[in-house]
Amino acid sequence: MRAAVFSDAGGPEAVEIRDVAEPTPGPGEAVVRVEACALNHHDLWILEEGFEGDGPFVPGVDVAGVVDAVGDDVERVAPGDRVVLCPNETCGSCRYCREGPENTCAEYGIYHGGLAERALVNADRLLHLPASVSTTAAAALPVSYMTAWRMLQRADAGLGDRVFVPGATGGVGVAAVQLVDATGGRTIGTSRSSEKLARLEGVGLDHAIESDDVDEIRTAVEELGEVDVVLNHLGGEFVGLGMDVLRRTGTMVVCGRTAGSTASLDVSDLFWNHKRLVGSTMGTQGDLATLVEMAANGLEPVVGAEYPLADTARAFADMHDRSAFGKLVVHP
Ligand SMILES: NC(=O)c1ccc[n+]([C@@H]2O[C@H](COP(=O)([O-])OP(=O)(O)OC[C@H]3O[C@@H](n4cnc5c(N)ncnc54)[C@H](OP(=O)(O)O)[C@@H]3O)[C@@H](O)[C@H]2O)c1
Ligand SMILES: [Zn+2]
Repeated sequence: MRAAVFSDAGGPEAVEIRDVAEPTPGPGEAVVRVEACALNHHDLWILEEGFEGDGPFVPGVDVAGVVDAVGDDVERVAPGDRVVLCPNETCGSCRYCREGPENTCAEYGIYHGGLAERALVNADRLLHLPASVSTTAAAALPVSYMTAWRMLQRADAGLGDRVFVPGATGGVGVAAVQLVDATGGRTIGTSRSSEKLARLEGVGLDHAIESDDVDEIRTAVEELGEVDVVLNHLGGEFVGLGMDVLRRTGTMVVCGRTAGSTASLDVSDLFWNHKRLVGSTMGTQGDLATLVEMAANGLEPVVGAEYPLADTARAFADMHDRSAFGKLVVHP
C-alpha cells in the first residue's frame, strides 16, 4: 500500500510517498481504510526534529475511514463500519489512568500511521460515525478539537467568558474559536493575515487582531477589556502576553510551543492577582465522543484545504509557510 513516509529529519520536501507493508490485524486490532487524515503541527515537529526509533516512519494521527478487517477477538467494530480514531495510547494501570482523566497517563503516547491507504489501530480506540458526519469532518476532530475542548474544561470556561486565542487561525486556534462560540463565550483571536481573520469571523470570531507582535497585541487586547481565559498554543513570548492580559483570578491554559519552548512571567502578577497557569495535553476518548456528537448536531469542523496522498508534501509546506487555515486533510 502507499503511505507518506519520513526517513530523515528535514523540511516538507523530505516527505516521500512510498510502498510500505500491508498491515494485518492482530488480537484487539483493526485495519482502517483511511479516507481522511488531518495534519497537525505535531507531524511537522516530527518531520523537522526527527522521530524516535528506526525509520521509515509513517506519520498521521487524525484518522477517519472505514473498517477493512479486524482481529479475531474484536467485537467493538466490524468491517464496513465508518469510524474515527481516538489517538490516545494509555497504559490503563498507572495512578493517573486509575484516577483519570486518561490523557494524564504517565505512559501517555500518541498514535501515528494515518497518512497511508490503511492504518493498523487499537480497535478499542475507534468511535462509530453517525451518517451525517463525513470522514473528512471527523478527521479534523481528534487532536485539535479534543485538545481545545479539554483546555476549556481545564479553564472552567463559562457562559459569556471572554477567551483570548493568540494564533487563532490554525488547527487548535480555529477549534477553540468555534467551541467557545458554541458554548456561549466570546473570542479575541490574532493572526498576521487579514484574509484568514476574515474567514475566522465567518465561523464565530468576535474580535480580530491583525498582528503577531506581542506588544501590539497586548495594547489591542487591553483596549477590548478584561480577558477571563487564555487558550495558548503558541508558548514563547505569548505566555507572558497571555498572563499580562488575563484578568484577576483568570486562567491561562497552555498546550503548545510554536513560538518557543521557554517563557518568562511576572511571578508577583501571578500570585498577587490570583491567576492560574495550567498545562494541558490532548483530551479523553469521551471528549472525542462528545465532539462527534456535536458534529452530528451542527458543529462544522473547519477544513481549510484537502489534498490527495501524492500531495502530502504540499500540505506540510502550507502548514510550514503559515498559509494554512483550520485543518488540512489528506485523502489517502
Ligand atoms: N499538547 C497538546 O495536546 C497539543 C495538541 C495540539 C496542538 N498542540 C501544539 O499547539 C500548537 C498548534 O498546533 P496546530 O496543529 O494548531 O498548529 P497550526 O495549525 O500550524 O497553527 C497555526 C497557527 O499558529 C500561528 N503561528 C504559527 N507560527 C507562529 C509563530 N512563529 N508566531 C506566532 N504565531 C504563529 C499561525 O498564525 P498566522 O495566522 O499568523 O499564520 C496560526 O494561527 C503546536 O505547537 C502544537 O504542537 C499541542
Ligand atoms: Zn496510565
